[in-house]
Amino acid sequence: MEYERLLKENGQGHLWEHYLSLSAREKEAFSAQLAQIDWQTFARSGKEPPRSGEISPIEGCARADAEARREEYFKIGKEALRGGKLACVMLAGGQGTRLGSSSPKGAYDLGITRPVYIFERQIANLLETCSACGCFVPLCIMTSTENDEETRAFLHGHAFFGYPERYVRFFVQDMAPCTDLEGKIILEARGKLALSPNGNGGWYSSLVRAELLRDELLSAAEWFNVFAVDNVLQRIADPVFLGATISSGRRCGAKVVRKTCPEERVGVLCLRGGKPDVVEYYEIDPATAALKDGRGGLLYPYGVILNYLFRADSLGEMLSCEFPLHKAKKRVPYLGEDGETVIPDKENAYKSETLILDMVRLAGSCLPFEVEREREFAPVKNRTGTDSAESARELLKRNGVEL
Ligand code: UTP
Repeated sequence: MEYERLLKENGQGHLWEHYLSLSAREKEAFSAQLAQIDWQTFARSGKEPPRSGEISPIEGCARADAEARREEYFKIGKEALRGGKLACVMLAGGQGTRLGSSSPKGAYDLGITRPVYIFERQIANLLETCSACGCFVPLCIMTSTENDEETRAFLHGHAFFGYPERYVRFFVQDMAPCTDLEGKIILEARGKLALSPNGNGGWYSSLVRAELLRDELLSAAEWFNVFAVDNVLQRIADPVFLGATISSGRRCGAKVVRKTCPEERVGVLCLRGGKPDVVEYYEIDPATAALKDGRGGLLYPYGVILNYLFRADSLGEMLSCEFPLHKAKKRVPYLGEDGETVIPDKENAYKSETLILDMVRLAGSCLPFEVEREREFAPVKNRTGTDSAESARELLKRNGVEL
């Protein structure tokens, strides 16, 4: 049996023993789960060399620059949109653990006197662009095995909030096994592995595996606009952003907002070792974060908001690159000794995730494109406080959305 060697070689002999204890039917289902795992990536887990290289500032398109060339960029972007050269990819496979809702995040209702769903706001913004450019844009929605059915049912139930269904595609992201703190893959129940979505960096390989590149709808796509589902002010398929990125000749573009203060807990787009990279707030030392640019502004001002453009040809090349796998400590239910699933009260496991910010580095060049925070950035991450439903409601109101 091929799994015996595979599991033992990967330090997972306990799974082989578990397999042997299963009935023929259970064995079949268990093998199917083992087949889902990308064992090559799993074997690399935790072995990536730490990121290194000097940090230096990156040249971006500040708001004043974008404003000065707005018409020119709009024209380039609009033409590309009309030629079907852009496809949008909504990252909706996350688990939304901080928000504490088991439903798809996009189905979260921010309304007060009427329902205002996150999906609805995103699509309303997209429809505005469509009407300004006179065309529809392909919209691919990445779900996870956990929320796929509910997401589809929700969007069908709301008639895609007015977006033509023929321009929408769904695909399910790949899963990765959760391990205990010693690196052993966890069983959630008898015959069932503990799996979790493999992170937002898994979007492209998942899209390819779902054979969407062969879909007629994406046949002319030269750019992908990838964005988080949870920013209710997210402006997608933005022709000015697309036009500016195309004109820059860079292989990737990132919408950024100017940091409010050096300590703000946001990933910063800059160069690391001469390549574009997102440096997390905990990776940058406070003195560097506070450096000034000579005109009174921050030297590292660009906070990322998870809205990227990737040139399709660079994505193809990335598929053959080794993607770093990041481990995060989480609470993961596991199979107890009495055969029942135990819900742990403290972090007992690692979930492994690939991150989209690693794609920025692999793209090799990136244009930071500054946007106005109050108009484009209202993420819903937490129940209350910063980046919460409450703060997003406030920003929606300021943007004239009736709640
Ligand atoms: P976050 O990192 O904020 O994760 O995702 P999350 O799952 O929404 O929330 P927490 O951390 O569990 O509280 C940023 C974006 O990436 C998507 C999310 O749906 C969100 O749009 N994402 C994240 C995926 O599509 N797949 C993943 O595996 C992880």
